[in-house]
Amino acid sequence: MMQKGNLGLNMKEMEVPMENIFEQRRNKALLNTSYPLKPVDWVQFKSTFPLPFDMDKDICFYIHVPFCRSLCKFCEYIRFKLDNGIDEERYLDILEKDIDAFLNKYPNLRLRGFDIGGGTPTALSLRAFERLLQIYRNGVDRCNLSSDFLPSIEATFSTLDKDKIRAIATSGIKRISLGIQSANTSFLLANHRYNGSLAHMSDIFAQCRKYGVSILNIDLMYGFLNQSDKDLTAALAIISELLPEHLTIYELRTNMLNSYQSKPASCLFKQYEFLFNHIMDMGYKGRFGQNTFSRANDMGVSSYLQNRMTENCAYKGFGIAAQSKSSKGLSYNIGKNGESLTECLQQESFECGDVYILPRRELLSKYIAICGYCGMFKLSKMEEILGENPLDVFHNQFKFLFDQHLIKREEDIIYITHKGFRDYGAVLSLFHQSNKSI
Ligand SMILES: C[S@@+](CC[C@H](N)C(=O)[O-])C[C@H]1O[C@@H](n2cnc3c(N)ncnc32)[C@H](O)[C@@H]1O
Ligand code: SF4
Repeated sequence: MMQKGNLGLNMKEMEVPMENIFEQRRNKALLNTSYPLKPVDWVQFKSTFPLPFDMDKDICFYIHVPFCRSLCKFCEYIRFKLDNGIDEERYLDILEKDIDAFLNKYPNLRLRGFDIGGGTPTALSLRAFERLLQIYRNGVDRCNLSSDFLPSIEATFSTLDKDKIRAIATSGIKRISLGIQSANTSFLLANHRYNGSLAHMSDIFAQCRKYGVSILNIDLMYGFLNQSDKDLTAALAIISELLPEHLTIYELRTNMLNSYQSKPASCLFKQYEFLFNHIMDMGYKGRFGQNTFSRANDMGVSSYLQNRMTENCAYKGFGIAAQSKSSKGLSYNIGKNGESLTECLQQESFECGDVYILPRRELLSKYIAICGYCGMFKLSKMEEILGENPLDVFHNQFKFLFDQHLIKREEDIIYITHKGFRDYGAVLSLFHQSNKSI
């Protein structure tokens, strides 16, 4: 039986002081917000039944559109180049059937968020894009909505135009998230990406505002091997010109990428710190350690992300490779294991992927890993998942992390401190149950 306070540590590790385990895990690029670290870590929890949602009252929806006009080399999402031969309608047919079947099975859930992402949803032809938004609208109209419901859609500057902005506004979506990633044009081109000129970006922003899309987010990335402070400053100059309501900075993850190099962990921290200080100077709000910032008084995210992260809300993903989580486990739709697009489109449903029915402690590890994005997690949510007081269950971990000032507590919330964020992967990993891959 597992001893109290030693969660996630095998017998050998239990004899090792927490500081030694922490020290060994510092600077390990594998340790970030991903969990499990390798799919094989969960093989024992695989199930042949669909993931049940009957214990969940609230839910967030996500539609994955796995198409892009061009494939950025640094991207680790499941996406396919949208060539002429690709049958967008077939994709939408399957998506529509899956959403309909889910809502028939679970008609009484309250919807707390709905994101459409990818890939690049706006890469679709206008006709297919309008149909996608109709599918979204039909789904929303069948649900009760929470008061904080703030749906969002992802786009790129090179695929968004007036007609698509109008279609988004008509569907009721009030937030668009646009990636620039970097302002270094030669780097972007070498990575198969093009954002257009600043004038083009400003024009897209003006159109969005004209049609009433009131919250715009920009994504930036850091951690690229040769990315200099000058590059970061140039990206921030675009931000200060466009002044999006929300701003998200992504640290480059390479877990799923073969031979794409990122900076070492110590440089990543410096780059984050550099960005954070400038973002604060520009008047955005956010705590050190978060990756989302806002000019308003919110967390800088859609309600899907907000509720999926700190609130531990169940989420259901539709489309190729989409992930779902209920209070019973996790599932991935077909496409996650490298299946070809042709193979996926031959299915009657995308819901034929991997399902894992997870013990509470694995669900807890997943919750903590997801919360890594916002640098905080809630004790009440941990207790809800574990069915026990987390301060008892993780006694040793909490003692070490508090003593070393790597985390701090404000009532129900545990924040990763400035010092803790330097080694946030190692901090989060102390709550990992499956640590075979470390
Ligand atoms: C799912 S992508 C879709 C957004 C849209 N297609 C675009 O490129 O702007 C969402 C964000 O993930 C981030 N991203 C992409 N590849 C990443 C990687 N390897 N590591 C960390 N973040 C990444 C980018 O900032 C991107 O804007
Ligand atoms: S970063 Fe965006 S546009 Fe580039 S490949 Fe990934 S999803 Fe597509």
